[in-house]
Amino acid sequence: MAMSRPSSSPLLLVLTAALAALVSTCVADPEPVQDFCVAVPPAGGGAAAYPGFPCKPASAVVSGGFFFAGLAGAGSTDNAFGSSVKPGNVLSFPGLNTLGLAINRVDLAPGGVNPLHSHPRAAELVHVVAGQVLVGFVSTAGKYYSKVLTEGESFVIPRGTMHFQYNVGNASARAMTVFNSQLPGVVGAAAALFGADPEIPDAVLAKSFQVDAEIIKLLKSKSRK
Ligand code: GLV
Ligand code: MN
Repeated sequence: MAMSRPSSSPLLLVLTAALAALVSTCVADPEPVQDFCVAVPPAGGGAAAYPGFPCKPASAVVSGGFFFAGLAGAGSTDNAFGSSVKPGNVLSFPGLNTLGLAINRVDLAPGGVNPLHSHPRAAELVHVVAGQVLVGFVSTAGKYYSKVLTEGESFVIPRGTMHFQYNVGNASARAMTVFNSQLPGVVGAAAALFGADPEIPDAVLAKSFQVDAEIIKLLKSKSRK
């Protein structure tokens, strides 16, 4: 006797949705539809619109459109954190437009820290070029993963996770960080919580962290410059 088969269309729908979800979670920025799209930044700056800036006409693009020297020198680490992060994203390096890539240079004085932050739009690869750097992040399960890296070693930070780099050596340290987004975005932990504009009410922060409002005021005084 012939068995009646359930209609395959719901199954097909589920499979298609699963495949679409899989593809979209593997791709940080949209796939380009041309070799390159050296950006024409909007006059007066401004945020990049999805999926990026408009392209310069290909006939007007010269080799310099793919070149960026902005990370050549060390940034000043003469600040409270003892660190400097120089960004190489589509805003400073128009050749990155639509390529799904960005790169930063991180300089750390001895004992310096690139303080806790996350990138909402990209995973990060940390490659240490000089010195000894403790790199760590916390997963959504609350597990802390870390490693001390020396020259030539790398560590990856999953997208959106809170992370830092800390110079544990006696000399200056340097790392190059690479992202799978042309504009990874950055959310500084202390800046977002205690330096937001307008302010998050002290009562909300005090209750959230289960501490006195005085402690919140102190933290705000450090983050609101
Ligand atoms: C380092 O964490 C960076 O964002 O460059
Ligand atoms: Mn980072």
